[in-house]
Amino acid sequence: MTDDKKTPPTTTDAGFKVQSDEHSLTVGPDGPIVLNDHYLIEQMANFNRERIPERQPHAKGSGAFGTFETTQDVSKYTKAAIFQPGAKCEVVARFSTVAGERGSPDTWRDPRGFSIKMYTEEGNFDMVGNNTPVFFVRDPMKFQHFIRSQKRRADNALRDHDMQWDFWTLSPESAHQVAYLMGDRGIPRTWREMNGYSSHTYSLVNAEGEKFWVKFHFHTDLGDGNAYLSQEEADELAGADSDYHRRDLFNAIAEGNPPSWTLKWQIMPYEDAKTYRINPFDLTKVWPHDDYPLMEVGKLTLDRNPVDFHSQIEQVAFEPNNMVPGVGLSPDKMLLARGFSYADAHRARLGVNYKQIPVNAPKTETHAYSKDGEMRTKHAVDPVYAPNSYGGPAAEPDMTGEAGTFHADGDLVRQAYTLREDDDDWSQAHALVRDVMDDAMRERLVNNVVGHLCDGVSEKVLQRAFEYWRNIDKDVGDRIEKGVREKLGGTSDAPGMASAKSIGG
Ligand code: HEM
Repeated sequence: MTDDKKTPPTTTDAGFKVQSDEHSLTVGPDGPIVLNDHYLIEQMANFNRERIPERQPHAKGSGAFGTFETTQDVSKYTKAAIFQPGAKCEVVARFSTVAGERGSPDTWRDPRGFSIKMYTEEGNFDMVGNNTPVFFVRDPMKFQHFIRSQKRRADNALRDHDMQWDFWTLSPESAHQVAYLMGDRGIPRTWREMNGYSSHTYSLVNAEGEKFWVKFHFHTDLGDGNAYLSQEEADELAGADSDYHRRDLFNAIAEGNPPSWTLKWQIMPYEDAKTYRINPFDLTKVWPHDDYPLMEVGKLTLDRNPVDFHSQIEQVAFEPNNMVPGVGLSPDKMLLARGFSYADAHRARLGVNYKQIPVNAPKTETHAYSKDGEMRTKHAVDPVYAPNSYGGPAAEPDMTGEAGTFHADGDLVRQAYTLREDDDDWSQAHALVRDVMDDAMRERLVNNVVGHLCDGVSEKVLQRAFEYWRNIDKDVGDRIEKGVREKLGGTSDAPGMASAKSIGG
């Protein structure tokens, strides 16, 4: 606090002035403390309840506030008010690692979360993406298993590269994302310099009711989205400054260097999805830009730091089901499952009325029939039921012309997506490693994988890992095997004997 600011009196949470910030109430200066020292008890009780559960995945992160503005005319694709030319709204963004706990180092190798909440005039629109355009699995049944394999073992509570590679090599659909993870995207230099992707395909609908499929790309205005830290730099920072990315974002904004991103869309005509050579809803695949080029949409700028990390960032609740009219979900099974999972996680982590926490509350009026529950602050209004004849809110049943109302038909089955002409698990990973990466990037990829595999991976899993990489790219796979064999001297560590080296997965 600066000297010229008048110091306000300390009060209890109820607003009563307190007598001392230093001394508890005792019977004489040397006597016992008394139970009616309400202020002491309030301080102790409040302290004991300061921590809330951390997010299951994506526990470590930070964020900032700013604005989104639509700079181009994309109204022929969507009727969403926020995507009309010149529309602008406030946003909150949060960046995160996936597998580490709330206090874990920012520089562990991991995809990075890239979450945006736009406070639009039609309600909150959330985009809960990553710094990579694809994901490890394509069916939500495998998501929980995947995350467990990246976190800690049951017996020694250590992270374990053997279980990470065990899962990946038994899940070939992970190849594309693992190739991103083991490359430069796995440890971005700063959050400001990374791109963000919806990864999933979403749907759009315009004012005439015409539907489209869309992928969102937030391209950083600072470089090409590939700025990275080497494994050595990241390992050093993990010890020296485990909050490196959090500090960088906060300081850049405080110093007047607000980071910004250009939002671009890939648009696919609705009918194309039926016949496109790649299943456009498979989250392990990208849409080649030659087929569906990027088009500019708008600008995201982050220029305001939180003033209270807990209430504004720890309690922020992003959810892919927060969709405004004109934008909707798609038949991507992962996305549909996420439509349930996040709100459920928020109810568990923050309580059923989490949408009333100011950072989560829409800036629009709400007329919901939700009522009561823990920590409710918004008044319920009679009539509290529908249908009613007392002027309560009434739903608008005409859903024609809404995004997310795609056609579906068939028997209930537990089955993978039907394969299309170019649907396989290796080709796009190969294209990333061979065509997108240059020699230096590939060299770093090989070294990163060799280092990772030499850290407690069993012989059986190692052999599968060499095969996995050869399936992605023969030369890269051979180099990885050679590197690992040279480093390990022909043997490998026993499974479960995770080393002390703290490289995340
Ligand atoms: C966080 C579930 C896939 C990005 C979370 C959380 C859950 C979850 C429960 C914690 C939410 C909280 O407590 O606030 C799932 C499920 C998935 C899935 C069930 C698949 C079926 C994905 C994918 C992406 C993603 C594919 C990216 C494209 C994120 C991000 C966060 C997050 C960025 C952190 C949000 C924040 O900053 O608060 N996920 N997730 N997730 N997830 Fe997912």
